[in-house]
Amino acid sequence: MLVFSLAKPISIMELEVIILAAGQGTRMKSDKPKVLHPLAGRPILEHVITTAQQLNASNIHVVYGHGGDQVQSYFSEWPLSWQCQAEQRGTGHAVQQALPVLGQDCLALILYGDVPLISLSTLQQLLAQVDENHMALLTTVMEDATGYGRIIRNDQQLITKIVEQKDCDESQLTIQEINTGIMALPAHYLHQWLSQLTNDNAQGEYYLTDVIEMAVRAGVTVNATVTDDPIEVSGINDKVQLQQMERAYQYRRAVELMQQGVTLIDANRFELRGQCEVGKDVSIDINAILSGRVVIGNNVKIGPNVWLEDVEIGDDVKIFANSVIQQAKIGRASRIGPFARLRPDTVLDENTHIGNFVEIKKSTIAEGSKVNHLSYIGDSEIGSGVNIGAGTITCNYDGANKYKTIIGDNAFIGSDTQLIAPVMVGKGATIGAGSTITKDTPAEQLTLSRSKQVSIENWQRPVKNK
Ligand code: UD1
Ligand code: CA
Repeated sequence: MLVFSLAKPISIMELEVIILAAGQGTRMKSDKPKVLHPLAGRPILEHVITTAQQLNASNIHVVYGHGGDQVQSYFSEWPLSWQCQAEQRGTGHAVQQALPVLGQDCLALILYGDVPLISLSTLQQLLAQVDENHMALLTTVMEDATGYGRIIRNDQQLITKIVEQKDCDESQLTIQEINTGIMALPAHYLHQWLSQLTNDNAQGEYYLTDVIEMAVRAGVTVNATVTDDPIEVSGINDKVQLQQMERAYQYRRAVELMQQGVTLIDANRFELRGQCEVGKDVSIDINAILSGRVVIGNNVKIGPNVWLEDVEIGDDVKIFANSVIQQAKIGRASRIGPFARLRPDTVLDENTHIGNFVEIKKSTIAEGSKVNHLSYIGDSEIGSGVNIGAGTITCNYDGANKYKTIIGDNAFIGSDTQLIAPVMVGKGATIGAGSTITKDTPAEQLTLSRSKQVSIENWQRPVKNK
């Protein structure tokens, strides 16, 4: 008679994740710890932690070593358990450092701080294979397996052990299925088995991989999840690999967007360093960088070399080349750039036009207003239908404090005007070109401050002394 052991459903077991990140990272040739180098704008390690959080882990232990202070201070606001491995004596020794704080009744998942693109769905598949009598190992098949631990299977194709490259005999070296290092198992087995590790191997290290043989000996079956995606199990050891992973990551984001209907002029020259939501019929030219949280409406055109950081863009907006936009909202059908700079807290209503070499900071601009050329608008409230002439400057700062400029609906500001804040321009007011406005100007009137133009008769240009 066959007896089926009833597996303890993993849904009732808490998950604790152990992230190994104590490696030196010397090949990065950097003073910065390896796991803090940015991938898609965020530290390599942050990608791993975020994925672990999405698994609802009740505890995330990070085993750190080299550069630990810098790593901890970057993540000081994150709910993480930090475990120091002062000396790097192998992956098994690294996991041992987390044992004093690792629960007994939970499920343990081992991840790596330098393997950032491991996917949530693969980890969910892996975890679904674990119960009291089964542990799970993530493997992959490689054309060239040099350097990796080889997966040894018996005649029934069951995994019996992992042999590191340096400990392999000739026939083992031909095996192409390799250990990614990622594994999951009931935590009490780690408590039991890690104390039995020895460093009796070619590298004199405590190998985590030795737990596979211990599992088999204890009657625990090792289930493999075999991934066919090399990117999600790739580690980063140097700047070349970092760049390759960046390109792989970016290309995947680009493909996702194209599948949602976005037109990308060149998927290899698109950068997402955060999250974006994109409407229909959006086209993005080369070298756009989207950072933070970017929300783009329908029928938006983004020109080449545009930097967008935490921006909301309404429908039918056109952003022309070389514009830099941070923490701003752009209303429907507006036109920005080329060469415009929108700084934090800029809010543009519908149909506004911001032209070349215009900088706007902490200002609201109402419907249909235009600032088309060479201007600085800071700490301002600009009404609707306003025309700001070329070279207008709001002088918002006296060297100590900042002041507001308020411009009423339908005002017309002549070119090369300086508005010395605090100042108010009335509705429908006209300011003559070249004025320095120091006092509030009345609605509907022409105001100008301009010295009288004179011409000197019989004036002679000076000539150079001999
Ligand atoms: C390890 C596996 C190997 C697998 C390979 C996948 C072991 C014994 N071998 O080999 O089977 O194919 O990963 O890349 O586990 N680390 C520490 N402390 C240490 C040692 C390592 O935190 O004392 C961390 C490193 O920062 C790194 C990871 O563990 O993130 C793997 O270490 P590494 O030295 O690269 O292991 P490999 O020898 O490549
Ligand atoms: Ca390695």
